[in-house]
Amino acid sequence: MQIKIAPSILSADFSAVGEAVKNLEKCGADLIHCDVMDGSFVGPITFGGQMIKNIRPLTKLPLDVHLMIEHPKTQIKFFADAGADIITVHYGACEKISPDYLRETLELIKSHGVKCGAVVNPDVPVEKIFPVFPLCDMVLLMSVFPGYGGQKFIPEVLDKVKLARARAIEIGKPDMDIEIDGGVTGQNAKIIRSAGANVLVAGSAVFNAPDMKKAISNLKN
Ligand code: DX5
Ligand code: ZN
Repeated sequence: MQIKIAPSILSADFSAVGEAVKNLEKCGADLIHCDVMDGSFVGPITFGGQMIKNIRPLTKLPLDVHLMIEHPKTQIKFFADAGADIITVHYGACEKISPDYLRETLELIKSHGVKCGAVVNPDVPVEKIFPVFPLCDMVLLMSVFPGYGGQKFIPEVLDKVKLARARAIEIGKPDMDIEIDGGVTGQNAKIIRSAGANVLVAGSAVFNAPDMKKAISNLKN
């Protein structure tokens, strides 16, 4: 499977995000990963739909919007209208509202013509989101606890990647995107990929590198 690199603008200088996005496209990124945090589901607050709207005209790359927020259903319209290409929502934010909330949110995303995905934290079994795999364009397996960039990769996620890929094959979606987010580096990209993931989010590994283009190509190869 073709590997895709999704640099996270969480690691960009927020006073120059537009420049960063244009630069990422030039340097070979495949998607732009946008980390939306609400100060409640996770501690920090980052940005909302206005950011997505403002960067939308600056790149042809898909905007991969990772919602780390409570009550995600209430926000889908804003992010879809702003130009998100894919929106992912956390199982943990949904299941505390109701057993059907995750499915309903994914359906709502799709009704806006936007791709959708479900996310699980490192301490949640991937089997919890198996029921929504048929609906998902992507599943995102967190390899750190969400909230901050620059954390250390939790290797236990690799078994979950294998289970997720096997399940995707089982339901006739062998090419479903499986994304890994957190602590991805040039050193662990290969084992992540061999486990069956094909979309790698990278914040610090790209933004802290002296040469962004080289960093992206290292992650790809
Ligand atoms: C963590 C975010 C990640 C983060 C990854 O809550 O979801 O996307 O930016 O950053 P690194 O690659 O530095 O771990
Ligand atoms: Zn993320």
